[in-house]
Order: sequence, then structure tokens, then C-alpha cells
Amino acid sequence: MVDISTSIGGIRLGNPTILASGFMGVTGASMAYAARSGAGAVTMKSLGLEPRKVHPCPVVLSFDKGLINAVGLSGSGIEESMAEIEFAKKHAGVPVIASIFAGTKKEFGMTAKEVSKAKPDLIEVNISCPNVHSEFGRPFGTDPKTAAEVTREVKKNTKVPVIVKLTPNVVDIKEIAVAVAKAGADVINAINTLGPGMIINITAKKPVLFNKRGGLSGPAVRPIAVRCIYDIYEATKGKIPLIGTGGVTYGNDAVEMFMAGASAVGIGSAIHYRDIGVFRKVSLEITNFMKANRYSSIKEMVGVAHEN
Ligand SMILES: Cc1cc2nc3c(=O)[nH]c(=O)nc-3n(C[C@H](O)[C@H](O)[C@H](O)COP(=O)(O)O)c2cc1C
Repeated sequence: MVDISTSIGGIRLGNPTILASGFMGVTGASMAYAARSGAGAVTMKSLGLEPRKVHPCPVVLSFDKGLINAVGLSGSGIEESMAEIEFAKKHAGVPVIASIFAGTKKEFGMTAKEVSKAKPDLIEVNISCPNVHSEFGRPFGTDPKTAAEVTREVKKNTKVPVIVKLTPNVVDIKEIAVAVAKAGADVINAINTLGPGMIINITAKKPVLFNKRGGLSGPAVRPIAVRCIYDIYEATKGKIPLIGTGGVTYGNDAVEMFMAGASAVGIGSAIHYRDIGVFRKVSLEITNFMKANRYSSIKEMVGVAHEN
């Protein structure tokens, strides 16, 4: 018998595929739709205390190996988002992850406290977005000290298990991971988008995105994401559950993440390549791999690439 259930931060998932933040996660109804389409858990688009406008278009573009985006963490603010989380909690039937961002440490604490009232199953702390102007002058997730301070502040303000989402855009992701784990993170998710990158329209003779620079996602970033998970697993000695996000498109990509050290995978850009059915398809492909290779649980695969 093959069992593809898994667990992160004490929360059980029927299958290891998680809707990544920023994809179909603005409304409760779209999160419920992703869950009906097979996602084992759903993450909301990152929300802040105040409403924020989307950058002018174009904000997302597909290139030959992935996506480039500069959406700008748009959102309607916490008040409206609370109702969406509550809706998702009622109708999704899978764990609901609320993702938060803020410009200051204190605001992270306040946002965590407020969002906890909607009773999400987990809170994901987005310290990795290049679009947020932090009090520190660059993303909190680029320095072990500030990353740990935000984690501690969030943990102080909620009893909900906390995922900290890391950026790959650092010299040494291991020291950031160890710092947030020591500060009390229950789960680490890696990675947010890579970059920034740029694509130039040579006919128009200008960058394609209005924002000019944007984060990369999809198949192009997968080897970086796998390396980040591998490094984090090694540095944290496998003691903290990891979510491997970045370019996961097929079942084999998910297996690669498990072998690097992840217990679950985030899926975002692959919705563009394989439609919303990607969650069910990836789960089936994982199951087929496990049957063919005599694995009976996800746990048996986690971190095995470190043994060889
Ligand atoms: C259009 C778009 C919007 C995103 N919005 C968010 C967001 O609000 N919060 C966040 O933590 N990550 C956000 N991300 C990053 C994704 O959650 C994910 O970490 C990244 O895309 C890599 O995974 P993928 O290759 O499966 O897409 C966004 C990515 C894209 C392409």
C-alpha cells in the first residue's frame, strides 16, 4: 500500500502538494477550487495590514523556461482577507495557510495576531518578497538576525504553527534557515522567486514588465530550489519539516524535493503549464513512482539523497 499523506508543523496533509502563495489564493472560493482540484493544502496570497495596489501591467510574463513577475504584493488588506480565510476554512476541506508580509517587525507581529483570529491551520511568514520595503532597507529574509527577529515576533503573537518562507537571493541560505529554526519556526518553505531578472522586448526596445525587474519561477528555478532544500536539510539536521517550492511541475520533481529533504511541495507556476489539475496529476505521478520503487510512505523518501 502506498500512503502519500504527510505532515508539516503537526498538521496532516492528505497528499504532499500545496497551492503556493500568489496563485488563485486571493479569494476563499478560488482556494476551495484548488483544494477540489486535488491540492493537499492551500496557501493564500500574502496579505498585509493595509490594502495595496497591484503594479501597472504587464505584471506576469511567461518565457521559455518559466515565469517572470512583479505583481507588487497587491491585496485588499487584512479586514477583507479574514472573510476569505474563513470561507476557505469552511469549504476547502484541506489545511488553509494564511501568508503574511509587513514592512516592520512590529507590524509582522500585529498581522500575525490579527490573522490568527480567522483560525488558519498555519501562518506562512513571507520575509522573502523583493517588493516589500522593510525598515531594514532590504528583505528581512536576507539577514539571519532580522529573519530571526521577525520569526520571534510572529511566534510571540500567535499559537498557530508558523512557516517561514525563505528567499534564494542570499549568499548562504543555511545560516538564515538555522537562525529562523532557532527562533522558533515550525516549518521552513524554500524558495520564493529568484532574481530579480529581466526580459527585454527587442522590438519595443524596453523591458517587458512595467516594473522592469521581476522574480523568476517555474522550471528554470528548480535546481536552485532543490539545492536550497538540500542545504537547509543538512544545516538543520532534518529536525524541522521543509516545504520544497520552485519549479515543481511533475511527480518526479516532487520526489526530487523529498529526496533533498522536503516533506511537502509547493506548486504555483505549474498551474500555468498543466492547468489546475496539476495537483491531482502530481499526486498520481508520485504514487506511481513510489509503487515502482517500493516506497510505502513519503517519510521513507525524505532526505535519502543525503545518504549517498
Ligand atoms: C505571480 C506570482 C505571485 C506570487 N505571489 C506570492 C505571494 O504573494 N507570496 C509569496 O510568498 N510568494 C509569492 N509568489 C512566489 C510563489 O509562491 C513561489 O514561491 C514561486 O513562484 C516558486 O514556485 P513555482 O515555481 O512553483 O511557481 C508568487 C509567484 C508568482 C509567479
